[in-house]
Amino acid sequence: MFIEVADKAGFCFGVKRAIELAESAAAKYGEVLTLGELIHNEHAVAELERKGVHAVVNASEAEGKPLIIRSHGVARKVAEEVRKHASTVIDATCPFVKKIHDIAAALPEGAKLIVLGDREHPEVVGIVGSTDCTAFACRNFDEIESLFERGKIDENDEAVLVAQTTFDRSRFLEYSRKTAEKYGCVRIYDTVCDATVKRQECARELAIRAALMIVVGGSNSSNTRKLADICSEYCKTVFVTSADEIPLQIVKGLRSDSIVGITAGASTPAYTIKEVHERMNEEITKTTNENEEDFASLLEQDQSFNRLYTGKRVKATVVSVSKKEAVVEVGAKQTGYIVREELTNDPNAEVEDIVKPGDVIDAVVVKVDDSVGTAALSKKRVDAQLGLEKLQIVKESGETIEGTVAQVVKGGVIVIYENIRVFIPASHTGVPRGGKLDDLLKKPVKFKIIEVTNERGGRVVGSIRQANKEVRDAERAKFWETIEVGQKFEGEVRSIENYGVFVDIGPVDGLVHTADLTWNRVGHPKDIVKIGDKISVVVKSYDPEKKRVSLSAKDPDDNPWTKFVAEYQKGDVIKATVVSITEFGAFAQIIPGVDGLIHISQISTERVTSIASVLSVGQEVDVKIIDIDEEKNRVSLSIKALMESAPAEEEE
Ligand code: F3S
Repeated sequence: MFIEVADKAGFCFGVKRAIELAESAAAKYGEVLTLGELIHNEHAVAELERKGVHAVVNASEAEGKPLIIRSHGVARKVAEEVRKHASTVIDATCPFVKKIHDIAAALPEGAKLIVLGDREHPEVVGIVGSTDCTAFACRNFDEIESLFERGKIDENDEAVLVAQTTFDRSRFLEYSRKTAEKYGCVRIYDTVCDATVKRQECARELAIRAALMIVVGGSNSSNTRKLADICSEYCKTVFVTSADEIPLQIVKGLRSDSIVGITAGASTPAYTIKEVHERMNEEITKTTNENEEDFASLLEQDQSFNRLYTGKRVKATVVSVSKKEAVVEVGAKQTGYIVREELTNDPNAEVEDIVKPGDVIDAVVVKVDDSVGTAALSKKRVDAQLGLEKLQIVKESGETIEGTVAQVVKGGVIVIYENIRVFIPASHTGVPRGGKLDDLLKKPVKFKIIEVTNERGGRVVGSIRQANKEVRDAERAKFWETIEVGQKFEGEVRSIENYGVFVDIGPVDGLVHTADLTWNRVGHPKDIVKIGDKISVVVKSYDPEKKRVSLSAKDPDDNPWTKFVAEYQKGDVIKATVVSITEFGAFAQIIPGVDGLIHISQISTERVTSIASVLSVGQEVDVKIIDIDEEKNRVSLSIKALMESAPAEEEE
């Protein structure tokens, strides 16, 4: 009898990520809470409890404590509630679930959302609670049909169909095809997660060949139940939550050449799968003994299970580490070793930075040398394969990840992420053309994955620029949501135009029109500011559609008009300086920032045909204030009024 574990079984990317976040939060804060159990697996939950990760039912129970939103995600209202109570919120919503939330959130009020899935499942509850439109959870096509028949949705509605990530892909395709054929108005998004699909395909493939399938997972895990359903179509199947639940007597009825398959749901930890594997292995060995098989052939069989050959994947336990290599135990007669270069891609990492005695790691056999009883293994090749799969998921989800720049190479830099070399071309580093890439060396950077290929052992390309752009876009979106007239900013002059200057106020540049630069008369903006100057500005108006902000650099406390109306009044005779001459009169400065107009008819008692022949710029004149328009901030002056009153005064 042979035991075979399905190629894809156990923790998926989203669950693994949630557990890593929870464990590191528990290590940091001493204790961390989760809203509901972090994953649907009672054994993993108990293990997490031991590490300080505790489940609560209501957000209010998290008062003043850190709380994790689990990979299923939560409804918007719940997220708000959580933020009110928890001291820190760590969002472990799986990026694939988040994608569905985004689709739901983008729907306008009045649209209709259909979610194929289990309406009681927390993921579906979260999706339904992420939208302002009316949402319906349906289990099959009949329920979709009934929505149309009962008039809950009609053909004029904007309707969208999505699926719970763990929904059976073949059923999703069938129901969405039928929906599209019958109700062309429905927009369909395939949101079934590939991790689920791959686990189902691998389980099916193994179940076809196996005489018995053991499906391991939490009793409340819907994706594990689905795996058991699939396997039971092809062979005898048992569903267990741990090794203790295996009905061991079942082995007795199997033929000696049978395959016993093991698969596990996305929330089943690797150690549970290992325990099931070991228990089955023991039982098969025992059964074989009882059948009085030849001990030598049994031993041979046992050794063949542990026989090493080039390319075999093994679990290796680290026994010791030195500068050059790690010695490992792989359950075979050979002593395994992994040289530093086969442990990691990071040229700066030491062996003890990567593994320590007692660690159990995945490795692949590179060479077996029976003459000296050793086996050379590689960890980085396994990491590379696992990493490529993971980075493919990261690429598809659009998630931003973080790694350290390990090397500057021709045309870019290399970032090591989970032991994978990610090439970031110079044009994607965010360093301006001609800038020094060396400045990034050994620095942590955030980036997105833009290409993953399996060619030549795998090639992964990343972009820091795209990650930066996402941050900037988010800042801009927030800026437009929160901007207000009257809001103050400290900005930097970015460019100077004839009509004003552009000022960098953070996520956007705003325009200060020339007239809004200062209270005084301005010829050209460059007479007032230069590029790089820091200035205080206030928002005058803005247009989120056209993405324009109009700013003013005038300080309201220095408003010269306020000073003018406080000190001067109609009838005052004052001295003013001519600052400009036009066809209809001359402007004269009364105080800096306030000019009055001497209309051509107010220049003299005589008829004036050429103002320039009577007045010149810079000339100081005696004038009388004949009008003040406080609404329009205008002052009318007259020289003529003084001429007319002069004889009377003389007579007096
Ligand atoms: Fe996420 Fe798919 Fe797992 S949606 S939580 S990676 S099954």
